[in-house]
Order: sequence, then structure tokens, then C-alpha cells
Amino acid sequence: MQRMTYDYYFNHHRSGFTHGMNNILIIYSTCDGHTEKICHKIRELCEGYGHEVKLVSITELSPEDLHRFAKIVIGASIRYGKHNQKIIDFVMNNRALLDSKPSAFFSVNLVARKPNKNTPETNPYLKKFLRRVSWRPARTTVFAGSIDYKKYRFSDRTIIRIIMFLTKGPTHPDAAVDYTNWEEVEKFAGVVHEM
Ligand SMILES: Cc1cc2nc3c(=O)[nH]c(=O)nc-3n(C[C@H](O)[C@H](O)[C@H](O)COP(=O)(O)O)c2cc1C
Repeated sequence: MQRMTYDYYFNHHRSGFTHGMNNILIIYSTCDGHTEKICHKIRELCEGYGHEVKLVSITELSPEDLHRFAKIVIGASIRYGKHNQKIIDFVMNNRALLDSKPSAFFSVNLVARKPNKNTPETNPYLKKFLRRVSWRPARTTVFAGSIDYKKYRFSDRTIIRIIMFLTKGPTHPDAAVDYTNWEEVEKFAGVVHEM
């Protein structure tokens, strides 16, 4: 039998803490990796606050994870006006579970690079998503995403360049711009920590 030392109590208590009510599941959907990058930052910061954090793609999510974690954060990017259908289906099929835990949602899109479209109240994609899934996460936010034309296939690059031309964004075929306000990401990690 293990001796009842200080170490034993400390480790026992600590594992109770990390696997108890203080752990966070971050579920993401990403096309080119930017939402995943934001999620990594949130994970790093939440771990700094002492949480156990698991990051999982919506394509690899297991039902056990959903039950094991106390708080749920979902992040998804916009592609051609829509969040990933898997995210929409997931939220619609798990409303009761999501409502039973502190949860947060954030959307990543380029419209949010405009100052008048970068809040939950003003970003059209976030508003439409929340209406569609009729879910009220405890916290919502929106982050401006990135452009990296070299990562896109020809047809996507052409279309996004045309949209950027029309909306006064970068059009050079080599342009790579990160519009994310990383200070806002830090603040959001603080919100997730507190929720
Ligand atoms: C093919 C394509 C379509 C996109 N469509 C939209 C759009 O309709 N509205 C928008 O605001 N941003 C749009 N974006 C911008 C993305 O949301 C942005 O690049 C984001 O950073 C992508 O995140 P991800 O790498 O996690 O998928 C699009 C980007 C690409 C490459």
C-alpha cells in the first residue's frame, strides 16, 4: 500500500483537481489552420491558469470527451459564408449537453477585420449561426482570421482576391496577412478561465 505521504496527498488532490470540474474541451473546425492556431493559444493560456485542456477537431471528437470535460469551447471558421456543417450538426444534436455546461463559441472570418463587424452583435456570421442553432453559449466572440493566398488552390485564391478587391483588402497573389487581434484572444482565454 502506498504510504500516506505529503506527495501522495498532493498528487491525489492535484489529479482530482485536473480531472474534476476545472477542465476544458476545445472543439474546432479549420480549413487552413488559423482557427486551430487560435485554439492552441487559448489552450496554452488556459493551461497557464491551471486547467487541463484538450484540443480536438470536430472530425475526431468522441462522446466520452463530451462527458469528461466540465467546460466546452467551440471555435469555427467561415468558408463561403458558412461555418462547417459538422459544427452546426454537432451543436444542434447536443444542445441539452451544451446547455448543461459553461460553454463558449467563437467564429473566425475575414468580415470581422472591419471594426464595425467584429463583435457578437455586429458580425453577420456569428449572429446567423446562433439564430440557426438556437443555442445561447455563456460566452461568444468573433476573431478576424487570416489571408494566405499561397495556401489556396487557384479557384479559391481568385475568388478571395476578387472579394478583397471589392472590400479593399490585399489582392497581391503572395499576400499573407494575419488580422487576428491576439490581445483579444488573450482576453477571451481569461473569459473561458472565469466562466
Ligand atoms: C475559400 C475561402 C472562403 C472564405 N470565405 C469567407 C467568407 O465567406 N466570409 C469571410 O468573412 N471570410 C471568408 N474566408 C476567410 C476565412 O474565414 C479566414 O481565412 C480564416 O482565417 C480561415 O480560418 P481557418 O484556416 O481556420 O479555416 C474564406 C477563406 C477562404 C480560403
